[in-house]
Amino acid sequence: MRNVLITGASRGIGLELARQLAERGDAVTVTCREPSAALTDLGVRSITGIDVTDDASVSGLADALSGQSLDVLIHNAGVLSRESLDDLDFDRIRRQFEINTLGPLRVIAALRGNLHSGSKVGIVTSRMGSIEDNSSGGMYGYRISKAGANMVGRSLAHDLADQGIAVALLHPGMVATDMTGGNGIPPADAARGLIARMDALTLDSSGGFEHAEGYALPW
Ligand SMILES: NC(=O)c1ccc[n+]([C@@H]2O[C@H](COP(=O)([O-])OP(=O)(O)OC[C@H]3O[C@@H](n4cnc5c(N)ncnc54)[C@H](OP(=O)(O)O)[C@@H]3O)[C@@H](O)[C@H]2O)c1
Repeated sequence: MRNVLITGASRGIGLELARQLAERGDAVTVTCREPSAALTDLGVRSITGIDVTDDASVSGLADALSGQSLDVLIHNAGVLSRESLDDLDFDRIRRQFEINTLGPLRVIAALRGNLHSGSKVGIVTSRMGSIEDNSSGGMYGYRISKAGANMVGRSLAHDLADQGIAVALLHPGMVATDMTGGNGIPPADAARGLIARMDALTLDSSGGFEHAEGYALPW
């Protein structure tokens, strides 16, 4: 049985990750801002009131987990808004940077003490953060923030390697959640792929950027 922590599990992909990992027997703890009915029904341990943009909140999370070892940490919490060149809302862009880029850095740094040699860290990022794969422009805040998340993950992979901790950057696919207005593959399929990628992650593959279906993505 592995101890797993997932951020942003009130709904969508995070909720489904929690469901599948709990079903296979892992000891799952999740964080959320407010527990949803679906999360409450799942019956996993929830640490509520955790906003990944807030230092005090994330330090409260570290306190709540003090002394507990984490085998797997999946930073899933994220947001998307759409800004075109004709509709640049810098507050919204900053908000995405706070949540999608600094959020994983803040959470993973705060929980370093809970990780050990052999622990695995996953950041749910997006291929929208790939510079090479950007063939359509727009989506300024989301693209910038996920490109930043990719850099956070690559640096963490280097910085945590000496401690024996591997880090994966994972794109879940286009998934039917609130974020996409329900368009895409079922969250259960995305979660299954993400779990397979976390299972396969080793120090040798640490720092990679992969699709949940198992192939490398361009940076
Ligand atoms: N859906 C896709 O097609 C797709 C594609 C590529 C990447 N992704 C990534 O996959 C991850 C999960 O997305 P999703 O599709 O499941 O979206 P979702 O259904 O909108 O869920 C987003 C989750 O993030 C949480 N969250 C948002 N802001 C937060 C904050 N400041 N602090 C803590 N938690 C916060 C939400 O909590 P609340 O309920 O409290 O708002 C919710 O649990 C995100 O990182 C997203 O960028 C999704």
